Amino acid sequence: MSEQTQRRLRRILCLDDFEIAAKKHLPRPVFGYVAGAAETNWTLHDNRRAFDEFGFVPRVLIDVSKRSQQTSLFGRTYAAPFGIAPIGISALYAYRGDIVLARAAAAANIPMILSSSSLIRMEDVKNEGQTEWFQAYLPGDIPRITALVERVKRTGFEILVITVDSQVAGNRENNVRAGFSTPLRPTARLAWDGVSHPRWLLGTFLRTLLKHGMPHFENNDATQGPPIMSPNVLRDYSDRGHLNWRHFELIRELWKGTLVIKGILDVEDARIARNAGAEGIIVSNHGGRQLDGAVSALRVLPDIVAACPDIPVMMDGGVRRGTDVFKALALGAKFVFAGRPFGYAAAIGGEAGVRHAIRLLSDEIHRDLALLGIASLSELTPQRLVRLAGR
Ligand code: GLV
Repeated sequence: MSEQTQRRLRRILCLDDFEIAAKKHLPRPVFGYVAGAAETNWTLHDNRRAFDEFGFVPRVLIDVSKRSQQTSLFGRTYAAPFGIAPIGISALYAYRGDIVLARAAAAANIPMILSSSSLIRMEDVKNEGQTEWFQAYLPGDIPRITALVERVKRTGFEILVITVDSQVAGNRENNVRAGFSTPLRPTARLAWDGVSHPRWLLGTFLRTLLKHGMPHFENNDATQGPPIMSPNVLRDYSDRGHLNWRHFELIRELWKGTLVIKGILDVEDARIARNAGAEGIIVSNHGGRQLDGAVSALRVLPDIVAACPDIPVMMDGGVRRGTDVFKALALGAKFVFAGRPFGYAAAIGGEAGVRHAIRLLSDEIHRDLALLGIASLSELTPQRLVRLAGR
């Protein structure tokens, strides 16, 4: 790790600090893509608001000297109850972003879900990064679904996460305002955005171009997609509106590994997913990036856990603190995921940055276990929480 990176990371004391540092480091459109959500950002803010509606009731004088945050999930034992959510185009904001995220997660023994909207071939991430989790959208027709699932299987992933909340693209006005599009259009404004962020331009973008060529969307389909920057190429935003549970059942037939569904907020949908063979559910509103106005996962979590008691129910959206992890777990989540903070960490500090982020969150959990009077996560119950009146 360079001395400059060390110095930068020393000033990062919590996950939110990464966002502040990344805002300075990244060109406006690139930061805007990661930070922004849909329309008014109502859902993005609800993801934080929902955590703020709960406080803790700690217990005292309980021996917490041998506390552990190890968590088992799908037959594996992870070092912590959190993982890295799938985050798109990370190789644009961090040099070899997906590989960096996967390596740091593997070193810390936490899961990292490779996004299908990524710019490094899944085969290379798997070889160099060692993750078992891959996230896919349902491509628009059956031959494409089949080919993608075949490729994921061939590559050796063991857990397939299907995101189902993206029937059409979200209305990301923030991206338009920040000058972001996929592909990016090479304009004078974009050139200026790059030149005015030289560390990103040289250390991430030009370094990627020189060593690996122009990044392309590599994993949305069985075949390569469009480049990340082009004056005229259009990305395939074909409607997924016709897709239905039959398509999910088809994937269940094709995929012999563990199947997880992500993007569920409705209890009845959770029941249908479970009955259709989902072995895990990630309750999620896509970081507020799809339907603006969709509620936070935390608000619907207890009902979904009650409806699907026999499979792990996980959540994402707004997790920034160890205390957030405890709130989600107390409301029944088996595991949580966070996305943006790890993307920012990769952007400003590479693999060392992501390791630092994982360590910060894990240290908070370790400390909070003691302060809550809990030796193991299984002791966490809804009784540790109070819903604050009037919030
Ligand atoms: C990709 O999944 C995105 O939300 O941008």
